[in-house]
Amino acid sequence: MKLGLIGHPIQHSLSPWIHEQFIKQVGGTGGYQLFEMNPATFDQEIRQFKSCQIDGFNVTIPFKERIIPFLDFIEGDAATIGAVNTVVAKNGKWYGYNTDGQGFVQALKKSYPQFFHAGAAVLLLGAGGACRGIYAALAKEGFKKITIANRTIQRAEELASITNHTENVSVVSYLEAERTLQDYTIIINTTSVGMQPDVSNQAISLTNLQDCALVCDIVYRPFWTSFLHQAKSRGASVHHGHEMLLYQGKIAFELWSGVTIDADLILPLFERKIQ
Ligand code: ATR
Repeated sequence: MKLGLIGHPIQHSLSPWIHEQFIKQVGGTGGYQLFEMNPATFDQEIRQFKSCQIDGFNVTIPFKERIIPFLDFIEGDAATIGAVNTVVAKNGKWYGYNTDGQGFVQALKKSYPQFFHAGAAVLLLGAGGACRGIYAALAKEGFKKITIANRTIQRAEELASITNHTENVSVVSYLEAERTLQDYTIIINTTSVGMQPDVSNQAISLTNLQDCALVCDIVYRPFWTSFLHQAKSRGASVHHGHEMLLYQGKIAFELWSGVTIDADLILPLFERKIQ
């Protein structure tokens, strides 16, 4: 299989490692290459790239939106989300998907199935690009309530309106989210706050957290963000960011190969690699 990644910068991407493990798992040949593209000349470079013999590729920052006009078809949630992270190339046609949100939900459901019930109340922190896919995937799970909190309220309101499943969706400020935190069973940080060098930074205070809650962060470096560390110290269950990365790759690889992957086979190795 000939696979790859387009983006800028991509030299430190973990995707080649992940997909080479998957290629081994299915007994395949070929590889996963990095195709760094310049944002200033992207349109020209991507047109040339279309004539390459490739089975599929991932798309990362800053091209997840810019790839859309070059696709022949846009599939699944990708149109709602307005971003594509996976392209399947078949008979010269490009099919665009977004596997980020589904990757997050699949990984979470596998580790914590007991939290996926109709009475669950979900608090999503953030309203940026990374949050869109997660929100779209969560909105289909039939939770009792989904609340979006963001520093910029207008972005949260825009995000809330992207799906049709809005009857149980609301938007609150960070202050309100902190005050009512005990009402939520699943809390997901999708902001970039935990990535900053000051590791004590976090989007909201967890003072009112229930100890039976599940707290997730999509940041995977550091492995233990301040947010997850505090959640753990308050007795909550925690879900680290690296599993979303692995599972979005698993779903992408399954689209390319048509073969079901067992991502958990490489999870311990992956954990050692990123820590
Ligand atoms: P991404 O595509 O990675 O999600 P993004 O679109 O820039 O990146 O979104 C980053 C998210 O982190 C946003 O929710 C952002 O809040 P705003 O919409 O108010 O900008 C949030 N964020 C980033 N830095 C933050 C900070 N210091 N405090 C609180 N929220 C922050």
